[in-house]
Amino acid sequence: MAAMDITPKTVVLGVTGGIGAYKACELARSLMRAGIRVRVVMTESATKFVTPVTFRALTREPVAVSLWDEPDAKIHHISLGQEADVMVIAPCTANVIAKLAHGRTDDLLTTTALATEAPLIVAPAMNVHMWRKEITQANVAALRARGVMFVEPESGELACGEVGEGRLAAVDSIVAAALEELGRARELEGVCVLVTAGGTREPIDPVRYIGNRSSGRTGFAIAEEAARRGADVTLVTGPATLADPFGVRTVRVETALQMRDAAEEAFDDADVVIASAAVADFRPAEASEGKIKKDDAPDTIELVPNPDILASLAERKGSRVLVGFAAESGDAAAGARAKLMAKHLDLVVANDITEPGLGFDSARNRVTLVTAQGDEELPEMDKRVLARVLLDRVTAIMKG
Ligand code: CTP
Repeated sequence: MAAMDITPKTVVLGVTGGIGAYKACELARSLMRAGIRVRVVMTESATKFVTPVTFRALTREPVAVSLWDEPDAKIHHISLGQEADVMVIAPCTANVIAKLAHGRTDDLLTTTALATEAPLIVAPAMNVHMWRKEITQANVAALRARGVMFVEPESGELACGEVGEGRLAAVDSIVAAALEELGRARELEGVCVLVTAGGTREPIDPVRYIGNRSSGRTGFAIAEEAARRGADVTLVTGPATLADPFGVRTVRVETALQMRDAAEEAFDDADVVIASAAVADFRPAEASEGKIKKDDAPDTIELVPNPDILASLAERKGSRVLVGFAAESGDAAAGARAKLMAKHLDLVVANDITEPGLGFDSARNRVTLVTAQGDEELPEMDKRVLARVLLDRVTAIMKG
């Protein structure tokens, strides 16, 4: 592991135009009391509630409002996004939530939010009816699905005189969420992580193959999250329609044999191996060089077993943390426990593939994490959120 980093962490605090904007002053102070550097970016409407001077005085840092403030200075939305270890938007109006959900960037705050690779925490505040509206909830759900974290508004008397949920969450809750994310931000600095993902394609001829329905989403999400936490990540993936995750060395392969070769190459340096790939257990004994014509179609295709990549890596486990996946139809946890033992794994992610609408080819999954200490049943969640939980557990295992 790398030496401890003592440079202060930075929260970019986005403040939007709601009556709760004054509470963002207290939030900035609380974050600073926790030893965090705070850079404030405000929307134009936020400045109608609190002036930039207030935040400037509190944070002793310049406050950014306009995309056009200082044309000669570093490009703000990029530099602010890069400085952020975590970005927090509090209070966040319905309008800004809608803009974030649709990738609109018509001011410095929303541009920074889109440009940053840092985790984004949103603390909404608005009228109860606006909060409850289907469109707002759909926008919140869309953002959650992309990994944005929400500190839910509280119930109580609202500035508009109505009573209901919509009040900005307590400053302490927002600070706690930010600290939790900051804790993770560089947690895997200096750690090498190898992730296998996707399904493999075993050729029958140049056109046809034996494959499976794995989309690679889980593995890509894990690789991306590990990189976000500072790890040096190699992702070895079978064919997937997903783009290379940011900051990850991505190696694209087709077959199980190619996946094995690429995984073995990255294994020596790896401290953690997460094998989420759905490797084809068998391949055609021979792949035809030319396309097989209909009339020449064989009655049977002879199959030979593929090597078990994870099992063979596990023989050289050393002090590495190894995580396997188990796709079961039936008692998922029981099958996973057997794999845990057989492959000398530290953790197995078990999922029941018979669950309709989940797992393979879906953005969501419900899994059980199985370790020697016991089972942890997780609720249904987005695969990005699952990646977070899984890496929290892996980190805990590494710390012993
Ligand atoms: N795995 C692998 N190489 C293979 C097969 C599987 O690395 N040739 C890894 C997978 O990435 C996964 C775990 O091993 O982490 C799955 O184990 P496996 O025994 O193949 O289980 P299932 O595919 O779930 O099914 P079965 O119980 O039928 O073996």
